[in-house]
Amino acid sequence: MKITLAFVLFLQLLISIGCALDRSQFPQSFLFGTATSSYQIEGAYLEGNKSLSNWDVFTHIPGKIKDGSNGDVADDHYHHYMEDVELMHYLGVNSYRFSISWSRVLPRGRFGEVNSGGIEFYNKLINALLIKGIQPFVTLNHFDMPQELEDRYGSWLNSQIQQDFGYFAEVCFKAFGDRVKYWSTFNEPNIIVPYGYLFGGCPPSRCSYPFGDCQSGDSTLEPYIAAHNMILSHATAAEIYKKKYQVKQGGKIGIVMSSTWYEPLRDTLTDNLAVQRALAFDTAWFLDPIFYGEYPPEMRQILGSRLPMFSVEDKKKLGNKLDFIGVNHYSTLYVKDCMLSQCESSTSFGEASVYITGEKDGHPIGDPTAMPSFYVVPYGMEKILMYFKDRYNNTPMFITENGYAQASNPNVSKRDLLNDAGRIEYLKSYLTSLNLAMRHGADVRGYFVWSLIDNFEWLYGYTMRFGIYYVDYKTLERTPKHSAMWYRQFLAREKTHR
Ligand code: NOJ
Repeated sequence: MKITLAFVLFLQLLISIGCALDRSQFPQSFLFGTATSSYQIEGAYLEGNKSLSNWDVFTHIPGKIKDGSNGDVADDHYHHYMEDVELMHYLGVNSYRFSISWSRVLPRGRFGEVNSGGIEFYNKLINALLIKGIQPFVTLNHFDMPQELEDRYGSWLNSQIQQDFGYFAEVCFKAFGDRVKYWSTFNEPNIIVPYGYLFGGCPPSRCSYPFGDCQSGDSTLEPYIAAHNMILSHATAAEIYKKKYQVKQGGKIGIVMSSTWYEPLRDTLTDNLAVQRALAFDTAWFLDPIFYGEYPPEMRQILGSRLPMFSVEDKKKLGNKLDFIGVNHYSTLYVKDCMLSQCESSTSFGEASVYITGEKDGHPIGDPTAMPSFYVVPYGMEKILMYFKDRYNNTPMFITENGYAQASNPNVSKRDLLNDAGRIEYLKSYLTSLNLAMRHGADVRGYFVWSLIDNFEWLYGYTMRFGIYYVDYKTLERTPKHSAMWYRQFLAREKTHR
């Protein structure tokens, strides 16, 4: 571990004296891109026969979003997509990760028709990208889904969703699979579940903790049912793709996980075991069933029969596995072992007797950022990648998100937001750590900065800016931040250095 740290510092020293890390130190076929998601950028929430999504409904409930905002207009990418493709072309990226709005393509899920307006929008976007040499990297579900599926049968709590998700996936494979070669079934199911079913902060706001704003739910069971249905929905879509489309279309299918790294608070056996439980109740909750057909042993041991079982048929379906793991990595946190009554009561980690914190003896684990619990800890990138490499047999990985937030309010000037030196440092140091993981054998095939443009940051609304392009939400004008110019330079170095 010490050697690794020393090597990171050495690489960083090289960078600081001018031997900059750049694209030439990554394989030629490596994807470099930027990432977004439909609800966060598209706007046009009722245009072209789109229906209301769960997030459209949720954000319109007063008090849910920090600044009272919503994604009705967002970046109006729906009308500005050509301009946004130009922004990417200017950067020199060769890939773009975005998501398809389920309610734009199938406004009523399986209960209605495919919406030709929705198909047309994504066709135009995909074609515009390809003309510029930018590979589409498409997520099928990035949090938003037709509200009707929630109202009719309770979405992820009902096993019917598996067929409905499979149907949606197949509509997309059919319509776009001749040109889209990278599919992700879900974005961060390990976030949707706790936020939607455990402490209720996000739709469908189900929980049984007394946090005030959730509908009644049973958080001792529902998170595990919702997760089970998501895992099997992934398997359904992967099976359809592998059996009917993969050979013909030649693409890959994976899943994207929120991938926080955890360090023991103290180097004790109990805290080290707590790290294993934290990882089990986070990424392994979803990835272990996909790879091995069973939940992580730590979860089964603690939850017993509250954790659903996979039938023989389910296991067969899960056997389709995936082609890559999408890694959304931002930060690292400390974990410590705890007695149930003192554990984090608001997350699934409470069940695991794990307490999570960003601080040790009053000192943060890394520099804090505008986002609570997102600290700058570059070495966490290498560690999470090596963990996935070892646990999942070095399956190919993509860094599907990595980025840095700036707080935004009327007192922060545009000039200050454009001058985002902190973001540049963050991106450089995380790319260095990624490069190190690759030198140590991790099979990583691409990297996407979150995000191309400032956008609607879920519960934080527009108070948090992740873009490397600044967006003026009054005029919708996009302006490159210093980080956009840095990324452009980083990507351009390839030509001179190879
Ligand atoms: C992960 C999510 O996928 C994305 O939607 C979000 O904006 C970023 N993290 C930043 O919080």
